[in-house]
Amino acid sequence: MKYFIGNWKMFGVPKSINILNKINYFYSKDKNRKKYRVIVTPPYTLIETYSKYFKKKNIFIGSQNCYQKDLFSSDTAAVSPYMLKRVGAKYTLVGHSDNRKEGDTNEMLKDKVKYALKNNLKVVFCIGENEKEKKNNKTSFILKNQITKVLEKNFNSNNIIVAYEPIWSIGTGKIPTKLDLEKTVLKIKKVLKEIFKKKSPTVLYGGSVDGKNVKIFKEINAIDGFLIGGASKSSKKFIDIIKNYYR
Ligand code: PGA
Repeated sequence: MKYFIGNWKMFGVPKSINILNKINYFYSKDKNRKKYRVIVTPPYTLIETYSKYFKKKNIFIGSQNCYQKDLFSSDTAAVSPYMLKRVGAKYTLVGHSDNRKEGDTNEMLKDKVKYALKNNLKVVFCIGENEKEKKNNKTSFILKNQITKVLEKNFNSNNIIVAYEPIWSIGTGKIPTKLDLEKTVLKIKKVLKEIFKKKSPTVLYGGSVDGKNVKIFKEINAIDGFLIGGASKSSKKFIDIIKNYYR
């Protein structure tokens, strides 16, 4: 199963559902639809409406983040995995570099993953090195650290997807070389296999994915799908990625 996950970030109002309607229509007619799943993470404000609307359709709705506590608390503006589950979210991103930059520590991320899983949300755990770390050949070390400091062997690995998103690639149009990316994804899978003793962990790539460069990524078998930012805000661009992946 491949994944095409659209991360809307701070984008969208109720009527933006038109974008998802077009993607849903494409999916319903696509001969390849059994091979992949479409997930979109709109902002918190739209999760309930969109989840209800797409409940019996083909698009899964997720959250871009969740708070590191269960149930309710006195943390202003926080939204717990429990609350997300109750409004219909099926997935949540955890550890996106935007949120790490704002102060998410490994301890916080561990709790986010723990409580998300407890509330039956599937977790898309994001990792990635920055430009300086890449230049200094620290990528493998950084990624291993990001994984092992957060994911524990007793977490339900069936509900964890890892998204490799080099920070220098997000929103910049820059992408890793095919060789580098293949090596990195295989290394990530090795680390995950060591933790979970699971045969085939799911690892996605994210960072400036578009309808053109997806043709390069599709040659890397180890990649199980994509986390798509900018291009997920246009139905045409998002559909082009899927079309060109299966062409
Ligand atoms: P991008 O964003 O596709 O616009 O580079 C990816 C992400 O931040 O998840």
